[in-house]
Amino acid sequence: MKEKEVIHEIEKYITKKFAFDTTGHNAEHMYRVAKMVKFLAIHEESDHFVCEISGWVHDLIDEKLTDNPEREKQQMLQLLQKLQLSQQQIVAIFEAIITVSFRKQKTPTTKVGQIVQDADRLDALGAIGIARAFSYGGSKHRPIYKGEERTDDQSTVQHFYDKLLQLKEQMHTTTAKKIANDRHEFLHTFLEQFKREWYFLDEGNFV
Ligand code: ADP
Ligand code: NI
Repeated sequence: MKEKEVIHEIEKYITKKFAFDTTGHNAEHMYRVAKMVKFLAIHEESDHFVCEISGWVHDLIDEKLTDNPEREKQQMLQLLQKLQLSQQQIVAIFEAIITVSFRKQKTPTTKVGQIVQDADRLDALGAIGIARAFSYGGSKHRPIYKGEERTDDQSTVQHFYDKLLQLKEQMHTTTAKKIANDRHEFLHTFLEQFKREWYFLDEGNFV
């Protein structure tokens, strides 16, 4: 089977699995991560075929997204075997995706794992990262913001400070670090404007 056909089959499988997600982990997230992973793999001289597949399947066995990770693992194994991937490739893919979650703060043990984790984190930054954060917050009925004076704040803006703004420092590959810098700056720009609007600081300048 040609590499292109394998990728196409995996894309079809994932698109079906994540069709109904509303927490920012939909099929488009998998698509963006797969593309970013491929890009990083080429620049980091890593196996782009194994990387791209790992990108597509990276959230498949996450306990947060499935009630039965074991069943997902078995199904994924069957798919990869049917697509005639080697044992070595299959092991590399599983190793990479077991360590991907940034919620659990695991450190990838392989280069493929590092690349997948970097790509997943890049998708939590920049304009798309902002959109995903508010979409996730909405799905959990969280407020957008509560103002600086509020403590024990569960808002999505607070999530920027708790997690998103730390991600830049946690990138593994040089290529991802460079992309992260730009997306990180965009979060700051967004937060600055957000606060100016929230505290009504600029309106006087327009009348
Ligand atoms: P992982 O799947 O790596 O564990 P998460 O599920 O924690 O990652 O995060 C995936 C996406 O959901 C990110 O875009 C992140 O910003 C968003 N997200 C996670 N937790 C929150 C939260 N408390 N508020 C807003 N967005 C969140
Ligand atoms: Ni993900």
